[in-house]
Amino acid sequence: MTTTPARAFPESFLWGTATAAYQVEGAAAEDGRGPSIWDTFSHTPGLVDGGDTGDVACDHYHRLEEDLDILAELGVGAYRFSISWPRVLPGGGDRLNQPGLDFYSRLVDGLLAHDIAPVATLYHWDLPQELEDAGGWPHRDTALRFAEYARRMGETLGDRVHTWITLNEPWCSAYLGYASGVHAPGRTDPAAALAAVHHLNLGHGLAVQALRATADPAAQVAVTLNLHHVRGVSERDAGAVRRADALANGAFLGPMLDGAYPRDLIEATSSVTDWAFVRDGDEATACQPLDLLGVNYYNPVLVRQWDGATPRETADGHADGSASPWIACEDVEFVQQPGPYTEMGWNIDETGLTELLLRLRDEYPALPLMITENGAAFADVLDADGRVRDERRVDYLRRHLTAVADAIDAGADVRGYFVWSLMDNFEWARGYAKRFGIVYVDRETLERTWKDSAHWFREAVATGAVPAS
Ligand code: FCB
Repeated sequence: MTTTPARAFPESFLWGTATAAYQVEGAAAEDGRGPSIWDTFSHTPGLVDGGDTGDVACDHYHRLEEDLDILAELGVGAYRFSISWPRVLPGGGDRLNQPGLDFYSRLVDGLLAHDIAPVATLYHWDLPQELEDAGGWPHRDTALRFAEYARRMGETLGDRVHTWITLNEPWCSAYLGYASGVHAPGRTDPAAALAAVHHLNLGHGLAVQALRATADPAAQVAVTLNLHHVRGVSERDAGAVRRADALANGAFLGPMLDGAYPRDLIEATSSVTDWAFVRDGDEATACQPLDLLGVNYYNPVLVRQWDGATPRETADGHADGSASPWIACEDVEFVQQPGPYTEMGWNIDETGLTELLLRLRDEYPALPLMITENGAAFADVLDADGRVRDERRVDYLRRHLTAVADAIDAGADVRGYFVWSLMDNFEWARGYAKRFGIVYVDRETLERTWKDSAHWFREAVATGAVPAS
């Protein structure tokens, strides 16, 4: 019996799935690929659950044809993947590694042959290890190297890529990589993390310029942010909301879209850094016209002003390190939110997505939006009959797609939606135990099996609507 009718999206809406190089490719030491900070991190005992590494991952590098067939069968209009910087420019230097580039060329051509728009992310966290050894993102030169990498990709793949995304979630690169240390390169230095914030912003702006100069002018250029939808427990927590918002969102939206760091960010962090690494003209460079803003959304954040006496809650969804990613937020509590929860411990609340999109509609009315990641990890089981009955993922996707439709109805210019992820993969510090895919990957055989959610998503794509239920 149908109780909820189908919910249609605009005709031009782009439906896709997403992955990232280190999470799926494997072939870590093949065909001239150099090491990235994630190779080093995952091979350091104790840093990744289960001692998992991306050495083999989903072996996507060798199973490209099979994975292209899955995408074609899903019927998606777009596929978001990332390019491994050390696979195409080992060491982060100038020498192009032809076999590495050939892989992405085959991927892009394969997508186009199936009428699937290639959406390429340049940086999904796999910094060449040599660049980290030279200082990493806290070091200005990394931004310049990144621009050079962008230029080379624009020159070689720029005639075929539909949408370029410079960075994926620089929040994670800077704060989880350099402040809390739960992601590669695993440093816990707040001042370095804020320098990383700046050089990621600068690198983004330089990369946009490089892509505009080299890629097909018809290509769209974007950045993907994991904007935090921050709520306060009560009105008394407005200061805590503003602080968390400045660190999480203003640190990137400010320079990239407004051409300046917010004053409250600079003031709040003044005991950590004097921001002297921001040179004249940098903020203007970071602020390049964009065709789209990519939004990754998983759950909202709830904060409270800490009273300084009761035990301080730190339930931000990333509280597995000894240090906090929340620089200058010592008096802010991250409050446990009501369930239900996914396997990541993240609460399921799609209203945050609608509210976030409406905020962006209000603050950046001229900038089209794209949901570049949304999805959920559950403890999926491959049943004896070969089915994976992941009804909770179907429910999650239904809720969030409906939330996007609500935002569109209220005037948000959302152009597309990408499920995270096409298939179960290496979930960073959580290893392979966290399954985000709509396609199940057997860890022994690497065999791919469509979950119920993949069948459901295919129907959504085919009808251009959230299916009736
Ligand atoms: C995002 C990452 C993506 C994936 C999901 C679950 O932060 O961009 O690679 O790990 O979370």
